[in-house]
Amino acid sequence: MKIPVKTALGSYDIIIERGTLNEVKSILNLNRKVLIVTDDGVPDKYFKAVADAAYESLIIVIPQGEKSKNIDNYKRIIDALLGADFTRSDCVVAVGGGVVGDMAGFAAATYMRGIDFYNIPTTVLSQVDSSVGGKTAIDFGGYKNVVGAFYPPKAVIIDPETLYTLDERQFSNGLSEALKMAATSDVELFNLFEKGVSRENIDEVIIRSIKIKSAVVENDERENGLRRVLNFGHTIGHAIESSDSGLLHGECVGIGMLYMCSPDVQKRIEKILNNLGLPTKTDVKFDSIRDAVIHDKKAAGDMIITVFVSEVGSFEFKSEKTDDFLSQIEGKWQK
Ligand SMILES: NC(=O)c1ccc[n+]([C@@H]2O[C@H](COP(=O)([O-])OP(=O)(O)OC[C@H]3O[C@@H](n4cnc5c(N)ncnc54)[C@H](O)[C@@H]3O)[C@@H](O)[C@H]2O)c1
Repeated sequence: MKIPVKTALGSYDIIIERGTLNEVKSILNLNRKVLIVTDDGVPDKYFKAVADAAYESLIIVIPQGEKSKNIDNYKRIIDALLGADFTRSDCVVAVGGGVVGDMAGFAAATYMRGIDFYNIPTTVLSQVDSSVGGKTAIDFGGYKNVVGAFYPPKAVIIDPETLYTLDERQFSNGLSEALKMAATSDVELFNLFEKGVSRENIDEVIIRSIKIKSAVVENDERENGLRRVLNFGHTIGHAIESSDSGLLHGECVGIGMLYMCSPDVQKRIEKILNNLGLPTKTDVKFDSIRDAVIHDKKAAGDMIITVFVSEVGSFEFKSEKTDDFLSQIEGKWQK
C-alpha cells in the first residue's frame, strides 16, 4: 500500500508493506552516501538491512529514550555528516521510533539547509503518527520539541513485521494515538479496536491512521487550525505526562481522552484501553494537572481550545475559559 502525502515542499510516499524493509534498495535512492541514525534498543537487523543496501553507509547509534533527543546527539550527527564530507546530494535515514525520527529529521533539515531524509519507523507510535506530518525536532532546556523544523521526508517505509520485536508496553502505548484518531475521525477503525488489535491485524490500523493524519496535515501543514484535532486527549495527557506520572506519552493520552468525551464514548474508550492493557487512572493529583494546563502552550491567554468527542467518528473544538475548563475536569477527576 502506498499513501501519497502532499506538502508545500513537495510530495512523498508512505509505503506500508510487510517485508518491505528488505526491499529498500529498490524503493529508496541509496546509491550515495547514507547516514543511518538508530538507537541501541532497535534490533541491529533493521538498520543493517539499510546499510547493506547502501552504496556507502555510516551508522550512528544513540542511547534509547527521550533523553537522547538532545543537542549533543544532534551535534554528533552533524559532526558525522561533516566529517564524512556529506554533500546535498547524500542522505540521512532514520531507523527506529519517534525519538530517532524526530532528531535525524531535524539534522537532515538543517545540514546544508536540508538534505534528503528517509524515515523507517519501527514503533507503533512512529508508524501510526510521528512519521507523518513533517515535524522534526529536538528537546532543549527542559522543553520537548522546542527546537525544530517542518521538513517532510523524501519517503517513509513502514514494515509492520518490525513490530514483533517491540515490547507489549510500547506496542499498546503507540496504539493509543491510533485510537485517538479513530475516536475523532473513523468509526470503522474504532470498531476494529473494539474487536481487538494485535500484531496480526495492525496493518489496517496503520493504514487508516496514516490516511487520517495525512489528510489533516495536508489541510493544515503548520498547525493553524484543523491539525488541532490531533490533540484530542492531549491537554490532560500532557498535564499528566509533565507531572512525573511515570507513564509513557500514549498512556497519558489514553487517560486524557476519557475526560474529553460524552459518557457513552468514555465507556467505550475505557473498555478498549483496558483490553489493550493501558491505564485509565493515574496517581497524579489534580493540583499538578491544573498547574500544568495553565502552563501549557495551548492555553492562549485565559482561554483554552480543546477537542471534544460526543459521538465516535466526529469531534468539535471547544474554546472556553481555562478556569471553567479546569473546574469541569476537577469535578470528574479520577471518579
Ligand atoms: N514528529 C511528530 O509529529 C511526533 C508525533 C508524536 C510523537 N513524536 C515524538 O516521538 C517520540 C516518541 O516516539 P516512540 O514512542 O516511538 O519512542 P522511542 O523512539 O523512544 O522508541 C521507544 C522504544 O522502542 C525501542 N524500539 C524501537 N523500535 C523497536 C523495535 N522494532 N523493536 C524493539 N524495540 C524497538 C527503542 O529503542 C525505544 O527504547 C517522542 O520524542 C515524541 O516527541 C513526534
